[in-house]
Amino acid sequence: MEAYILEQNGGVENLKKTTIASPHIKANEVLIKTKAIGINPIDVQVRNSKDFLGMITQGNIPQQVILGWDVAGVVEQAGEGVDNLKPGDEVYGLLNMPGLGNTYATYVAASANQLIRKPAELDFIAAGATPMASMTAWQAVVTLGKVKKGEKVLIHAASGGVGHFALQIAKHIGAYVIGTASAKNERFVRALGVDEFIDYTVQPFEKQLQDVDVVIDTINSVEHVQRSISVLKKGGRLVYLQPYFQSAIEAQLQAAEVSGYGVFVNSSVEVLTEISKLIREGHILPKVTQTFSFDQLPAAQAAVESGRAIGKVAVSVN
Ligand SMILES: NC(=O)c1ccc[n+]([C@@H]2O[C@H](COP(=O)([O-])OP(=O)(O)OC[C@H]3O[C@@H](n4cnc5c(N)ncnc54)[C@H](OP(=O)(O)O)[C@@H]3O)[C@@H](O)[C@H]2O)c1
Repeated sequence: MEAYILEQNGGVENLKKTTIASPHIKANEVLIKTKAIGINPIDVQVRNSKDFLGMITQGNIPQQVILGWDVAGVVEQAGEGVDNLKPGDEVYGLLNMPGLGNTYATYVAASANQLIRKPAELDFIAAGATPMASMTAWQAVVTLGKVKKGEKVLIHAASGGVGHFALQIAKHIGAYVIGTASAKNERFVRALGVDEFIDYTVQPFEKQLQDVDVVIDTINSVEHVQRSISVLKKGGRLVYLQPYFQSAIEAQLQAAEVSGYGVFVNSSVEVLTEISKLIREGHILPKVTQTFSFDQLPAAQAAVESGRAIGKVAVSVN
């Protein structure tokens, strides 16, 4: 099979396409023939930083590092003990998070209990792009943010991978949703049903908002998260996507009398089942705006690394 091996931490040039043996599956695993791979900012962070790689593998860095967690494909082989999937099934999932998912490959071995059948409403590319961003959004909006009907919810980077799912989930719940992005993405965000759009490049959001019930802060900046705290009403909830910010914001959360929750997404098939249900019922839809071939996978990572991606970036595999 073909796979991208991370030779050492650093730039995209360190992702080397190599021919290696296909993985052998163990009991309770399936072998997937990859059809699409979703690219996420964490792929870039782990590629860039040995500390991140060490953190995600809990110090057990294998000799051959294959990045990637999102996958959609077809079951080629089912191992002993697998009774929920069979060869020919079209599946998708977020593999082995935390750990290494090894999805940057034309074949992937995966635990059968981390995969579910792909909703017929999604093609492989849309399905491959969905798991990590949508499951993070679910944990932010539903599990931790506990967003309720009628609440005022601010979602930062509503044009991004996580944000565009969070917006759709919060609207489905019946919240009043305010989304931030720059003007060029206003049309994209409005088409997803946002109630209010803020161009963060024109005026700081905190000058325009107060008494917000829940903020979902997707931005990788402590200072940005601190600004988000200032728009919450007393008793409000902040959900932030960089869990290691906790100690830096603890005092401000207390002073503002609000709660703070850091998200760390994991391979929960229960959450992906909830996402599939919303997709099947037509409440949410992934928006893939850039698709690359397997040969162009490093360029797909560069597109995500730019910080300007709209919706999702995916890689199609033949
Ligand atoms: N903790 C976890 O488990 C977890 C899981 C998934 C993701 N994450 C993290 O969550 C973050 C977001 O992920 P993602 O996949 O949504 O990223 P993404 O798709 O790459 O986000 C890109 C979007 O962010 C917007 N943006 C950039 N700066 C902004 C700002 N200051 N204000 C408002 N919008 C801004 C851009 O719009 P413009 O071009 O208009 O600026 C762009 O559309 C990443 O840092 C990622 O590492 C954490």
